Amino acid sequence: MSSKKGLNDAYSVKTPEDNIKLYKIWASSYDDDFAKKNDYRSPVLISNYYDKYSNKNDVPVLDVGAGTGLIAEVMNKKNTIDIDAIDISPEMLESAKSKNCYNKLIEADLTKNLDIDNNYYGAIVSAGTFTHGHIGPNALDELLRVTKPSGLFVITIHSKVYVNQNFEQKFQDINEQITDLTFHEEKAYGNNPDKDHGNDTVFITIFRKK
Ligand SMILES: C[S@@+](CC[C@H](N)C(=O)[O-])C[C@H]1O[C@@H](n2cnc3c(N)ncnc32)[C@H](O)[C@@H]1O
Repeated sequence: MSSKKGLNDAYSVKTPEDNIKLYKIWASSYDDDFAKKNDYRSPVLISNYYDKYSNKNDVPVLDVGAGTGLIAEVMNKKNTIDIDAIDISPEMLESAKSKNCYNKLIEADLTKNLDIDNNYYGAIVSAGTFTHGHIGPNALDELLRVTKPSGLFVITIHSKVYVNQNFEQKFQDINEQITDLTFHEEKAYGNNPDKDHGNDTVFITIFRKK
């Protein structure tokens, strides 16, 4: 089977098992055939918003759905950052490992309970993972549990998924647990001629755990 996958493949998965199969094939070509070809902006955006909103206490960082490590690559170019990766795909994590930009790589399904202590991380970052058929709003419950009080979240939520998967309701449900919630709509891709998804937007979603 071809390792060349694209946005339509990424947006057609439905279950964690579909994700494991897709990214097993895609891991080796993801950076070139997906990120570069589509002028994928989300990892750089997350890094920039983290820089803008974080303070020195917002560590260690957990990169949720870290994939091949594009967020940590950008963040580490600016400062050495104490960052762990979590992802369901061993092949994507293997690719991330080769870049030496994470302290720890955690293979886990973010739709399940996580084997991580309460109040451990100072910040959660994520790009491209709160999207079609990947992880939905309920994953925020476990992520809030593993984040320290006052910890920072800087995550992309695909704008269509925000509506279809009812993130609005989720933010109402967790309203008492979080503070300083803001959304910044950004184009996920720069110069991308893809007629179906080239103009897709994400909400850079920023908040703190109370
Ligand atoms: C589009 S990639 C984004 C990777 C990276 N953050 C980036 O921006 O390049 C989505 C990632 O989410 C991971 N993923 C999908 N479903 C997951 C789940 N249930 N638990 C953990 N990771 C998952 C995939 O394995 C994949 O690496």
